[in-house]
Amino acid sequence: MHLGRKTLSKFLIENISGSKDGAALAALLVDVAAAVKAIAAMSARGALDGASGSLDSTNVQGETQKPLDVLSNTAFVNTFEMGGLVAGVASEEMDDPFPVKAPHTRGPFLAIFDPLDGSSNIDGNVSVGSIFSILRANGTGEPGIEDYLQPGSKQVAAGYALYGPSTVMVLTVGNGTHGFTLDREVGNFILTHPHIQIPADTSEYAINTSNERFWEPPVTRYIDECKAGKTGPRERDFNMRWIASMVAEVHRILIRGGIFMYPRDTKDPTKPGRLRLMYEANPMSFLVEQAGGAASTGRERIMDVVPDKIHQRIPVILGSRHEVARVDHYHQQYDAGTDKPFDSPLFNERSLFRP
Ligand code: AHG
Ligand code: MN
Ligand code: MN
Repeated sequence: MHLGRKTLSKFLIENISGSKDGAALAALLVDVAAAVKAIAAMSARGALDGASGSLDSTNVQGETQKPLDVLSNTAFVNTFEMGGLVAGVASEEMDDPFPVKAPHTRGPFLAIFDPLDGSSNIDGNVSVGSIFSILRANGTGEPGIEDYLQPGSKQVAAGYALYGPSTVMVLTVGNGTHGFTLDREVGNFILTHPHIQIPADTSEYAINTSNERFWEPPVTRYIDECKAGKTGPRERDFNMRWIASMVAEVHRILIRGGIFMYPRDTKDPTKPGRLRLMYEANPMSFLVEQAGGAASTGRERIMDVVPDKIHQRIPVILGSRHEVARVDHYHQQYDAGTDKPFDSPLFNERSLFRP
């Protein structure tokens, strides 16, 4: 029983209710938590309600939708629309953002979200999550698309929910990154991970290596050096994880360090990356930076990128800051033409592994 421990509501009252629009932001994050509890309950029912498999519909990204993608989107949209705290919403699952209209009341914020991240994992009963980003709206009018296109550095709050063995909600309002665990029986989120800190160093990386042939040379160099382990230039062994749920990946990194990469690749030349800037990369970057980590495209800080469209994709490299700095450095060397070829002993003249 958690009686006496800090609830999400108490944390929000203590941490933000005194600042500009703080009470409204606190109320909005309580609304997010309500939507998250509904999605946690739906996803925990698995195939019982016939919500498994795929729908015939595709979203604006061209991805086949799952029933839970749509149900989770509806949970967020209804919560935000009826909450009176946002002027408009934008979602991975909706073609265009839409403004809150009468009879509902507009509030001072914009909510941008990925209602169900990692949804290819649902049928395998592997962890999925929700990601959200809160921006300030420009005034009280009906927001236009340009109002949403703010760089990540303008976020007033961001977070995710992870629907795993336990449901956790991790958020930042710009004063550190804090994790809350859902006490399902009681229905409260309890502060269980205050002021999360990502270790600066790590020996664990996460990347989908099936894309290796499409990577840029600095990414190949970094991963080759990790794989070479003790016998390579890093002189220590690395471990690899790939869950294909960014939320689960980022959560692991917040808890024990690591580097996550979905870099630029040439698999589809029309897409500069797999992940979306506004509702995946930006909120995760805010959380990671607030926990002492770093988040980069390889060439610039993600949260400095000024978006030009709502569903924009971007390369993502985030996590333990010394490793992210190393990958950035490899990109700089490559772009300047000063990188040296991979020189692990595994690939020397007499090695069996020599390409
Ligand atoms: P979504 O389910 O919202 O489309 O996002 C899935 C994302 C992310 O969670 C994960 O890191 C990545 O896509 C997995 O991509 P691959 O299937 O290419 O590994
Ligand atoms: Mn996603
Ligand atoms: Mn999604």
